[in-house]
Amino acid sequence: MGLMDGKKGLVFGIANERSYAYFIAKQLVGQGAKIGFTYLPIGKMEHRVRKAAQSLGIEDPWLVPCDANDDASLDTVFEKWKQDESTLDFIVHSIAFADKDYLKPDMFHQTPRQTYLSAIDTSAYTLLAMSQRAMPLMNDGGAIVNLSYYGGEKVTPGYNVMGIAKACLEHTTRYLAYELGKPERNIRVNCISAGPFKTLAGAGVGGMDQMIQYQEHTASMKRANTGDEVGDTAVYLLSDLSTGVTGETIHVDCGFSIVGVPEGHGA
Ligand SMILES: NC(=O)c1ccc[n+]([C@@H]2O[C@H](COP(=O)([O-])OP(=O)(O)OC[C@H]3O[C@@H](n4cnc5c(N)ncnc54)[C@H](O)[C@@H]3O)[C@@H](O)[C@H]2O)c1
Repeated sequence: MGLMDGKKGLVFGIANERSYAYFIAKQLVGQGAKIGFTYLPIGKMEHRVRKAAQSLGIEDPWLVPCDANDDASLDTVFEKWKQDESTLDFIVHSIAFADKDYLKPDMFHQTPRQTYLSAIDTSAYTLLAMSQRAMPLMNDGGAIVNLSYYGGEKVTPGYNVMGIAKACLEHTTRYLAYELGKPERNIRVNCISAGPFKTLAGAGVGGMDQMIQYQEHTASMKRANTGDEVGDTAVYLLSDLSTGVTGETIHVDCGFSIVGVPEGHGA
């Protein structure tokens, strides 16, 4: 018996087998969920996402292109899912983008208007855009999870405009949770704030190696979190284990975010 038996949903954001979304999909499949996959239609993404799905034992995955910045592309994904599966129990939003030229220390104040707006569009508004389209298919309630980082709460040099987008994402989570949580909708929306992790998106943030080292040194548990730990928390938030939880941002960072002044630098 799995925690996700009988539940089906869409995972947005696998680029390869290092993606946080991959670890989430892995743990969801391990608990019995049926998953539909999407890929950003550029380069070799279709091949990579198919390979990632196959490595989870899904030989012929439900796999469609999706550029989440494009409303028509999102419409196509949800319409195709409706035709094929009729209902939806969950979605995983694990996508983000910001121009890496501005993800360097001391560059935030130089951010151009379009770079700022595009980071918020891809990394935060898309959660709202997906939720709008998921709602009519979640006729027996549902659950939505997205991914944030501590740089949305506190200044993290180099994270810059992505931190602004994450603050926006976390608060979008709360506003959506409020409206979608009404009894006639019964859809929960939660956020996982995960520690730094070497992925394609992670590599675009200036100083990622130092961020990971700092987490290992500073976090309460003196280590970095694993991808599977993020996946397990997503299972909790998307399963019936968390039916009373919505609008939360849960940190999966080995206790990094609870530390104010690290040992050796305080009283
Ligand atoms: N890696 C980290 O250190 C870290 C830490 C905390 C939170 N996160 C968050 O986790 C999430 C997943 O990132 P990741 O680190 O696994 O990196 P990743 O590069 O593996 O995943 C990012 C995904 O976003 C997708 N994407 C970008 N623009 C898109 C668009 N317009 N339409 C559809 N998809 C688009 C990419 O195709 C890719 O699959 C992001 O929200 C990221 O900010 C990452």
